[in-house]
Amino acid sequence: MRYSDVADQLDEVLVTEEQIRARLDELARDVERDYAGEIPLLVGVLKGAVMVMADFARALHIPVMMDWMAVSSYGNTTQSSGVVRILKDLDTDVANRHVLIVEDIIDTGLTLTWLRENLLSRGATSVKILTVLRKPDAVVADIVPDYLGFDIPNKFVVGYGLDYAERYRHLRDVAVLSPHVYADGE
Ligand code: IMP
Repeated sequence: MRYSDVADQLDEVLVTEEQIRARLDELARDVERDYAGEIPLLVGVLKGAVMVMADFARALHIPVMMDWMAVSSYGNTTQSSGVVRILKDLDTDVANRHVLIVEDIIDTGLTLTWLRENLLSRGATSVKILTVLRKPDAVVADIVPDYLGFDIPNKFVVGYGLDYAERYRHLRDVAVLSPHVYADGE
């Protein structure tokens, strides 16, 4: 077992590191084709997108720029609040740029709905979305990623950048967090 230290806190591995790498390679080919001749600005949403940005950007063979935003999300609970606040803004002016948001997960889609509108209002030429994971509730917010890794069930997952109370981000795979962990913590 890869996670002997936290095995009692995880229910199952949903998506492995190898599956993620292979899918990101496929998506990189799509992105290279779609952005041929452009220099897209990859925008990562801190902190969860750190792993996917590192892997995805290195899978690309076209020139890109990278920038980061931090917005408020779950805090220490496992329910989305829908309240979005900019904690760290971009350093880059997105006016007249092709922006590709690089995300770890779309759950309700509230964060990305807001972020896409925000970047368009700053004059971005286009705003597309790449996400590694998507939960079924995303459909409610009518947010459709342009590049999707995997659809997963409506369970709280950790690893590959995703946390619960800032823990588990470093796990290489995406795993379901045992409900007893957050039941105990609240
Ligand atoms: P939203 O509900 O689509 O707005 O998701 C907002 C943020 O909540 C995501 O970017 C993640 O940081 C976090 N999130 C959603 N689902 C999970 C999960 O299953 N595990 C860890 N974080 C999650």
